Amino acid sequence: MSARLVDIFFILMGLALGPILKFLYGLYGFFINLLSYKPIDLKARFGNWAVVTGCTDGIGKEYVKLLAKQKMNIVLISRNIDKLNATKAELEKIYPDIETIIIKTDFSTGRKVIDDIRVHLKDVPVAILVNNVGVITEYPMYFGEMSESDLWDTININIGATMSLTHLVINQMKKRGNGAIVNLSSASEMMPLPLMSIYSASKIFIRYFSDSLREEYSSHGITVQCLSPFYINTKMINFSKKFSKAYYFVPDPETYARHALKTLGRLNSTTGFWLHDILKFFSLMIPTRMLRSKVGFLINKIYRNDYFNLHEKQTQAWKS
Ligand SMILES: NC(=O)c1ccc[n+]([C@@H]2O[C@H](COP(=O)([O-])OP(=O)(O)OC[C@H]3O[C@@H](n4cnc5c(N)ncnc54)[C@H](OP(=O)(O)O)[C@@H]3O)[C@@H](O)[C@H]2O)c1
Repeated sequence: MSARLVDIFFILMGLALGPILKFLYGLYGFFINLLSYKPIDLKARFGNWAVVTGCTDGIGKEYVKLLAKQKMNIVLISRNIDKLNATKAELEKIYPDIETIIIKTDFSTGRKVIDDIRVHLKDVPVAILVNNVGVITEYPMYFGEMSESDLWDTININIGATMSLTHLVINQMKKRGNGAIVNLSSASEMMPLPLMSIYSASKIFIRYFSDSLREEYSSHGITVQCLSPFYINTKMINFSKKFSKAYYFVPDPETYARHALKTLGRLNSTTGFWLHDILKFFSLMIPTRMLRSKVGFLINKIYRNDYFNLHEKQTQAWKS
């Protein structure tokens, strides 16, 4: 057979097998998500210290509680000192044997915060880094409606924090030949998402970054996990009341974190929640990214209108 025919044969095989392999991996992930009833012993597998960004609310706060339950010491990084102190007190009350370190940081201010974090982490052997911090606009917005600071805050928080903190710990993990990095992407990485343009672009960055990092460092014993959930009922998605009506598919952060943490060390790439695997399956039935993008645009217009209706009602209530 000529080389040209061999190329064509493998391209055709790739076209046929690619979707099948993708489907099988999806199915495997679904069953891991559905069936794993206990997280692995994270302390035994990775070490004593976990660092969690954006840990005073939502998913990050639930991760911190679950990691503490596994008797891990925790570095808490977030922007509000009162909420940080409250989270620390809450942890220490339930788990008096663990150590906690607080780092008050506003990631929106960009690169300069890393020097302070570096000083705090100087003697901490970081076993697990959860790059959780992330923001979205107050409601689904057209690009031109975003303020200049909205733009840079999203880049600094959603991309800059993950990139810099990973850079801070990767070499010590490599030296020890052990460690885990958990990066919070989002299902919005599956397509360009109008009305959440910068957010979804920041999340595809997290996907590509995570996948590249895994290739570079898995042979050094480092696990890189990328989580891509659909909606979770946290303050981030306050813009629409529709989410609370779909509560099976929009879990509370405690339910989500409990499921997602069980996948650490078992799945490198997952939504983290079996019902979100089902949503992902149906979303991928829409054949191209551009079509998914159009559907996403329509759905975001609904959420946007919901936000305006809600706020109109609130404004009227205040007036009366
Ligand atoms: N919720 C969802 O539907 C959803 C879906 C897919 C992916 N995700 C991703 O999951 C991650 C967590 O989301 P979430 O819903 O749990 O968010 P959340 O409830 O809004 O909590 C975000 C956390 O980050 C902190 N934070 C915000 N801005 C910060 C800044 N500039 N510097 C330092 N800390 C800051 C917040 O502190 P304060 O307590 O002071 O606000 C809070 O602790 C994000 O990366 C998000 O993109 C969320």
